[in-house]
Amino acid sequence: MGIGIIDNICKNDKADKIALIGFMGSGKSTLGALLAKRLNFNLVDTDARIVTSAKQSISEIFKIHGEAYFRTLESNCLHEQKRIKKIVLACGGGLPCNPQNRELLKLCFLVVWINAPFDVCCKRILRLGVNDTSRPLAMLDNVEIFEKLYNERSKIYQEIANYTINISNQETPCAVAGEILNVLHPYISDIPK
Ligand code: S3P
Repeated sequence: MGIGIIDNICKNDKADKIALIGFMGSGKSTLGALLAKRLNFNLVDTDARIVTSAKQSISEIFKIHGEAYFRTLESNCLHEQKRIKKIVLACGGGLPCNPQNRELLKLCFLVVWINAPFDVCCKRILRLGVNDTSRPLAMLDNVEIFEKLYNERSKIYQEIANYTINISNQETPCAVAGEILNVLHPYISDIPK
């Protein structure tokens, strides 16, 4: 498992908010749940929050109201979390594309980029197939365009990540969560014994 480097935070600044960023299918929600459990923090999954409060699937929100409306809901959801302590925030893959969202993430969260290879993300998305109502932008029928989006997004994620974990599809989610915790341990406040 490749390990990134924490280069822009100081051990004296203990974080009580962790944000997981990364491309669709990188495993943010699964890892978020594992990390939240281990840290005894609350998990906030922006997609799940939006679906619950809008009472519509993400595909429906895109279709009925448009992507811009979804992005507003997403930013609102992020802003609602800025004063909440002890949370792991699993961010929708497009959330860091908004510069204001990036500023807020940088300011208030320890940001972890789950960097999974493109083919791993695609395989995971494919596994959900037609039942997936959460990823209207997943263009698996036009892999070149989808890969371009992946490459563009990767630059954005890299820009704000305090720590990058490079994963493949070899590790179990538990092993990845354990690795993240090992590295983040000195930077997180109130870790349960
Ligand atoms: C999106 C990613 C999705 C979801 C929406 C848009 C994106 O979340 O927010 O379909 O623009 O990358 P996941 O990253 O959890 O799949």
